[in-house]
Amino acid sequence: MRLVAALARIKDARGLPVRDPEQERRVLEQGADDIGDPALRDYYLRLLNEEMALSREYQEELLGLVPGVFFAPLTDAAKYFNLSRKVLVVTEPGVPSQYPEAILQACPGGSLLTVPGGESGKSMDGVQTILQELLRLGFTRDDAIVAVGGGVIGDMAGFAAACYMRGIDFYNVPTTLLSQVDSSAGGKTAVNLCGVKNIVGAFHQPSGVLIDTGTLGTLSPRLFAEGMAELVKIAAACDASLFGRIERSACLRDDIDGLIRDALAVKMSIVRRDPLENGLRAVLNFGHTVGHAIEAASGGRFYHGECVAMGMLYTSYGEARERLEALLKRLGLPVEDPFDADTLMSFACSDKKRRAEGFRIVEVSRIGDFSFRTVSADTLRAIIVKRKSQ
Ligand code: GLY
Repeated sequence: MRLVAALARIKDARGLPVRDPEQERRVLEQGADDIGDPALRDYYLRLLNEEMALSREYQEELLGLVPGVFFAPLTDAAKYFNLSRKVLVVTEPGVPSQYPEAILQACPGGSLLTVPGGESGKSMDGVQTILQELLRLGFTRDDAIVAVGGGVIGDMAGFAAACYMRGIDFYNVPTTLLSQVDSSAGGKTAVNLCGVKNIVGAFHQPSGVLIDTGTLGTLSPRLFAEGMAELVKIAAACDASLFGRIERSACLRDDIDGLIRDALAVKMSIVRRDPLENGLRAVLNFGHTVGHAIEAASGGRFYHGECVAMGMLYTSYGEARERLEALLKRLGLPVEDPFDADTLMSFACSDKKRRAEGFRIVEVSRIGDFSFRTVSADTLRAIIVKRKSQ
């Protein structure tokens, strides 16, 4: 592994890709040519392929790279995505038009569709509009959707891609900090139904994610801050050194590129181990049990990231909570919600994350470390009441 690590550093210094399919193919073929026995040749090819995959994964983690996530200008989209086919670029009115236009320019067979955005637009109606457009334009299984915008548009277009002909390629171009740091990668897609957030959805991994942090230049301070809440979430629960870097950063907008890369590397190392959220991945829901209840109770008054910020403080304790609260305040995020325990509990009980056995909450008592606890509705209510009385 020391050799593999040295190789990764050389590639990094020279700007070479960790994965070079052409070179890998050549190495495999050269070696296999000298093996006469077909069974042995098959064994050799399988073994070497597995070794290369392991080495690649190790190098990517070492360098903080995330497979399938590219940091580049929007105008370079065609270098990273296969856009030489029918492509539907889906966006919403709030997204500055130059962003979807830049992607459209890179698609010889591209069409643009603008659907209503915001949490109220994240609906089955929105998905139906996208599906009907795909049908009208004669899309087949070989074609693709590109979402350009925030988390709402990524979730909705991703879900349409998961459903159309039982799944077509989907690329994500997140243009808000919230979506760049969390929702664009990992394959969760969903829409709301009857006021219940993300209740209808599918896991459908994007074929690629393109992050151009230049798009953050047009983001309002409030939207930037809510994105920081998801970044802080990942750091607080999983990476103490990343948390320290956010605390020490004198200008977050200057440091944001590296922070997003590292947060995504942490997130994707979790997603790789538990893509369908059967266990570990639920750590990424830190702050979401109460956060989603606040979001639903506020009827859109608070943004998602703001609700996560307030939500995290309910299930963090001691010094960890003090540091978390101080950092969230410094970022301009709200740290207390105005709802009483009964209101929050009534919304928490209809959240999709509730299981038959209760609520699986993520608790943080030390920055960079977390534990899971399954609690009853009464215990969750007591946690809420206790925080409100402090
Ligand atoms: N946003 C949390 C996750 O992707 O699991």
